[in-house]
Amino acid sequence: MTAVQLKGVRKSFGTFTAISKIDLDIKSGELVALLGPSGCGKTTTLRMIAGLEIPTDGQILFDKKDVSETAVQKRNVGMVFQRYALFPHMTVEKNVLFGLKVRGTDKAEMAQRLEDILEVVQLQQFRHRFPAQLSGGQMQRVAIARTLITNPSVLMMDEPLANLDTKLRGEMRRFIRDLQQRLGITTIFVTHDQIEAMELADRVAVIFDGNLAQYAAPDALYQQPNSIEIADFMGATNVFEAAITGKSATTAFGALSFATKAADGPAHVMLRGEAIDLHLTEPSGVQNQMQGQVTAREFFGANITYSVDCKGVRIQVTEQSRRMVDVGQDVWLTIPPDRIWIIQK
Ligand SMILES: Nc1ncnc2c1ncn2[C@@H]1O[C@H](COP(=O)(O)OP(=O)(O)OP(=O)(O)O)[C@@H](O)[C@H]1O
Ligand SMILES: [Mg+2]
Repeated sequence: MTAVQLKGVRKSFGTFTAISKIDLDIKSGELVALLGPSGCGKTTTLRMIAGLEIPTDGQILFDKKDVSETAVQKRNVGMVFQRYALFPHMTVEKNVLFGLKVRGTDKAEMAQRLEDILEVVQLQQFRHRFPAQLSGGQMQRVAIARTLITNPSVLMMDEPLANLDTKLRGEMRRFIRDLQQRLGITTIFVTHDQIEAMELADRVAVIFDGNLAQYAAPDALYQQPNSIEIADFMGATNVFEAAITGKSATTAFGALSFATKAADGPAHVMLRGEAIDLHLTEPSGVQNQMQGQVTAREFFGANITYSVDCKGVRIQVTEQSRRMVDVGQDVWLTIPPDRIWIIQK
């Protein structure tokens, strides 16, 4: 498999800069998600890696070899798009075989690879159907099979699940992850959905406005965002102004002791809703204790989110739906010091 590196890559279209500067290291066999809001430059980055766009500056390396100027056909990459772009007048088999046929692959080899790939994507029984006779998930599997049959050394997917409903998206995510692990193929997956990125990827590259904002494993990105923009994009609800002195953060609702490293001065403190414990009686001998009142409750099935007012500040607490605490109830919140994250300004 192939390692992919971007070194100081910039891309302008005329006077417009789509990518300011991106450095990215993707290990061989790794699944990396490019995550960011619409227009941030995800597709442009993918197209440069594929060879469909030439970077204005910087280099793209495959296994340390500069491919910045190498044509798309010579890079041996596979692309799967949001719109499956299947040929409507061709059966599943013919669609899947198309890439090999245009390369003049010999018949016996084509037949063998077809069997292998149909098994991998579990489409054997649909082989003689036309795209119009398939569900969205099945069409997406045909699109993936059609790409994989050419044995690409890098697989790229641009929002491939955007057209599917929520349940099917979940199934397809597991399918793609499982397939990628079995084949060990270096994969770059574009999405603007942070849940999708976290579920699928070994590492997530967050792109904001043409810049790489953070590149980290899903848990690190979720627990330790390096800016409030990323915290916000990753769905953090409790982010507050704080003044740091030593291991203490002074906030509008009291002082919190934390365990991580942080410089003295103004900062933001992030508390994940599920990191906060909610108590109905006053706990004793627990650090980072605050009194408050429940002002709202949202039920999500498995989880419940409570809004708790602490000295006029609204703090959201999420817990599993093992009990229901009423709105208006007086409560105490506690936060373990190692679950507090400080975002430096
Ligand atoms: N060929 C082009 N000419 C001029 N501008 C372009 C071109 N291609 C992309 N852009 C601009 O570059 C920016 C990044 O576009 P890109 O398609 O990479 O975004 P994206 O992150 O994939 O967004 P989305 O999530 O909506 O697909 C956008 O502002 C877009 O308008
Ligand atoms: Mg795009």
